[in-house]
Amino acid sequence: MHSRVRSWLDRAYERLLRRDIDDGPDHVAIIMDGNRRYARERGDEATAGHREGSRTTEQVLRWCQDLGVEELTVYAFSTENFDRSREEREHLFDLIESKLREFADAEGVHENEVCIRALGQVDRLPDRVCEAVDYAEGRTETYDRFRLNVAVAYGGRAELLGAARDTLRAVEAGRLDPEDIDVDEIDRRLYARPVRDVDLIVRTGGAERTSNFLPWHANGNEAAVFFCAPYWPEFSKVDFLRAIRTYESREASWRHTRTDRAVALVRAVAGSSLVETREVVGRLREQLPRGGAEELSAELDHKDRTAE
Ligand code: FPP
Ligand code: MG
Repeated sequence: MHSRVRSWLDRAYERLLRRDIDDGPDHVAIIMDGNRRYARERGDEATAGHREGSRTTEQVLRWCQDLGVEELTVYAFSTENFDRSREEREHLFDLIESKLREFADAEGVHENEVCIRALGQVDRLPDRVCEAVDYAEGRTETYDRFRLNVAVAYGGRAELLGAARDTLRAVEAGRLDPEDIDVDEIDRRLYARPVRDVDLIVRTGGAERTSNFLPWHANGNEAAVFFCAPYWPEFSKVDFLRAIRTYESREASWRHTRTDRAVALVRAVAGSSLVETREVVGRLREQLPRGGAEELSAELDHKDRTAE
């Protein structure tokens, strides 16, 4: 298709998808996969694919800000990536270093008050990357309008193991009572605080796995997941909007499930438990869609009348 016609169609489709977006996710996490396949199909070196991919990362940061997303986490280097060839690893380290410095100096980052943080076992990375992490974190640490987390030397299991060990040490030292171990205690022992729970995970490149990425923040929060075929360098705004639409329809179906459960609860209780049920339902009501809240009120009124 003629490229001008194609880009006109894309823009029209973007407008259409945008119209459907209501609240949107607060925190999006992305597994940027497919860089090498993208390069290989064009007869290029893997390194060219990673470079192209990093351009997509810059664009996605802007799209997030346009759409009211408040936090973006990108998987730039996993613990498994240490097994790649020395040449590829060094290239990735160079790229991550230069992107961190570029982000830290970018006008848009300061205008939009983007706080940059690295998530992972940063001390396993070469000094030049650690220095770039310090530079980016230091230049943006006072900002809180948007949060960009760059997951480097990150592995979900390693993160949970670290938190488990740290918790045990606190118990052994008598600083923590095992009875007091709750979600917040574990949360503050993970790589970086504060990271919001993840609402949506996106993975490009066709594989349908979430690969050891943010198990506590995403799986624990039952994040929506969007898998798509394009390689990371090809990921477009339309793909991103589709991912957000997936999150929204999942949220809507969740809210309906909650309505059904709340209505079933009201139906199941009799006379004396009705006062307590009202309290529980009052708390549930704010999580329901408008129609759901009305349905629930009608059910409670009916119950009140029949209980008299
Ligand atoms: C996965 O594709 C991609 C990576 C391992 C690297 C991603 C890193 C960047 C895009 C740099 C971003 C930098 C910052 C600081 C945000 P792959 O190599 O697994 O490709 P394949 O699946 O085709 O083999
Ligand atoms: Mg891959």
